[in-house]
Amino acid sequence: MTREPRPEDHFSFGLWTVGWPGADPFGTATRPMLDPWEYAEKLAELGAWGITFHDNDVFPFGSDEATKRERVDRLKQAADSAGLVIEMVTTNTFTHPVFKDGGLTSNDRGVRRFGLRKILDAVDLAAEVGATTFVMWGGREGAEYDASKDVHAAFERYKEGLDTVAGYIKSQDYGLRIGLEPKPNEPRGDIFLPTVGHALALIAELEHGDIVGLNPEVGHEQMANLNYTHALAQALWSGKLFHIDLNGQRGLKYDQDLVFGHGDLMSAFFTVDLLENGFPSGGPTYDGPRHFDYKPSRTEHLDGVWESARANMATYLMLAEKAKAFRADPRVTEALEYAGVLDLATRTIADGESLEEFRKADDGFDADHAAERDFGFVRLQQLAVEHLLG
Ligand code: GCO
Ligand code: MN
Ligand code: MN
Repeated sequence: MTREPRPEDHFSFGLWTVGWPGADPFGTATRPMLDPWEYAEKLAELGAWGITFHDNDVFPFGSDEATKRERVDRLKQAADSAGLVIEMVTTNTFTHPVFKDGGLTSNDRGVRRFGLRKILDAVDLAAEVGATTFVMWGGREGAEYDASKDVHAAFERYKEGLDTVAGYIKSQDYGLRIGLEPKPNEPRGDIFLPTVGHALALIAELEHGDIVGLNPEVGHEQMANLNYTHALAQALWSGKLFHIDLNGQRGLKYDQDLVFGHGDLMSAFFTVDLLENGFPSGGPTYDGPRHFDYKPSRTEHLDGVWESARANMATYLMLAEKAKAFRADPRVTEALEYAGVLDLATRTIADGESLEEFRKADDGFDADHAAERDFGFVRLQQLAVEHLLG
């Protein structure tokens, strides 16, 4: 039996996850919506450590200052008394129809000015509640039709927006870092920053890119048929893995937001292995929140919502145990050596070896002989399967 989740595990949940009442494009809500603070106590009871939210998960769009104050204070009190950390805050720039063509990249300048102000207000809120990450998911930044968008100008405006937000965070000494969240499509036909790689490339062009990193989501990379663990690995290698959204996805379809592990379980195993055990040869590690961004299926009652929240954490802990056992198994050590996995960490050109020496060096290398090498990758993978099922 796997142990119960504990605050030290740093599990956190978006209020919009357990708080999703089940309305989708084809049907109305199947569950009642509670007040945001009602979720806090229950999540803490289940062993979560933190919560996250959009501005409009706490107060409705267009609320006056008094309403915002009252509702934010109430949530803060609930989080405090439940012992929960508010680790991340984000802005809703997608629900209200004003954002139908985006927030930072809408063709309508008035909308862009409004959207950027709304984001800056959410930054103040994030700092006030003690969050350390500010996520920016540009779900409506994109297009359905190529003629409808000057993509060059859109990137200029995206950069302008991000630099404004990051510059403001620095000027206020808020200590927040921005996590961009890539997604290929849904709700737009094509969303800008469709993958982790695209987001990394944009960050490299920013003036204040030092505090801008990534919040990659399992399902979003998998909707683009990409390898989520590799996306995390490259973000880590770039020093940009600031936050994560864990969930489950089964193949190339709409954003399913299943419970973590309920999609590609093998991939989830290696994701947890990377998060818990790091790279085989060392290097940067992730010690941020284990944040879940999933949707309890609309077939479930409220009890099922809590069951599904528990399932995310339980699956993570089971996989963590199995990944530890995998790494400790002498057969795995032997298979890793045989496969040359650890040799990849050795520099190709030796320290101090000049390019001239290198090009002339006689290593006694025989391509035909080298081509005969067996790597044994399948055996290594089967050992992972054994651990996963065992
Ligand atoms: C989605 C996204 C969102 C974001 C959230 C925080 O596909 O709807 O994953 O859930 O994570 O808006 O920015
Ligand atoms: Mn999603
Ligand atoms: Mn997400």
